[in-house]
Amino acid sequence: MVGGGGGDAKRAPTSAEVNAQIPTRQFRRGVGNLFVAKEGNVTVLQPMPPKPTLTDFIRLRFQSTSEHCLQSANLARKKNLDEELTFACLIHDLVLSMMRVDHGFWAAQMFEPYVSEKVAFAIRHHATLRFFPDHEAGYEYPQLYRTMFGSDYVVPAHQQAEYEWVRKHKWYMAPRLVTVNDLYSFDPNVKVSLDDFHDVIGRHFKQPKEGLGFDGSPVAHMWRTAATPDLPL
Ligand SMILES: [Fe+2]
Ligand SMILES: [Fe+2]
Repeated sequence: MVGGGGGDAKRAPTSAEVNAQIPTRQFRRGVGNLFVAKEGNVTVLQPMPPKPTLTDFIRLRFQSTSEHCLQSANLARKKNLDEELTFACLIHDLVLSMMRVDHGFWAAQMFEPYVSEKVAFAIRHHATLRFFPDHEAGYEYPQLYRTMFGSDYVVPAHQQAEYEWVRKHKWYMAPRLVTVNDLYSFDPNVKVSLDDFHDVIGRHFKQPKEGLGFDGSPVAHMWRTAATPDLPL
């Protein structure tokens, strides 16, 4: 995904170089990996059970981001983070399988009917807080973002305003702790099982009895879309 924008391999591209790569792809970078294969063609998906649970979605549709989320939740758990926030870490990036751009807001909307207000707040704002260091909390601007967005990337005004508002909010530390535990340096020797979080999901996710996508909630269509991404309409 990166490179080909000019310059040597070690130097992060400029924003202009990142933008110059746009017409070199058949897809836009904002789309989730459920809809576009990283390489080659997409695969045939396994069918979903009739009343799908969050666990079914994680196992059968959100595989492209579930490992990252599990590793982040595992790190949060090891640090004895509040269980509610460990759960927030577990779900914080699942929506990336569907939509990458503005994913904090997509995630919060999709999960809001089924999680606490604080968990929704944490996942909604974690994406913007990723751009703003907090040395005291142990969070630095990620080197990866220099490569992804460009070394001279400027955060847009609406995100700057969101950050300033969240910074003063009583729940600031909720999304901040999601960013602190947002783990990208995977240890291949650490295997985290979704089964280890079965109880956490049970305590913090209000699973609708009809199954996700069939409970008539305002976001049911988002879950159905994740369940059936091969439908032409
Ligand atoms: Fe994220
Ligand atoms: Fe993440």
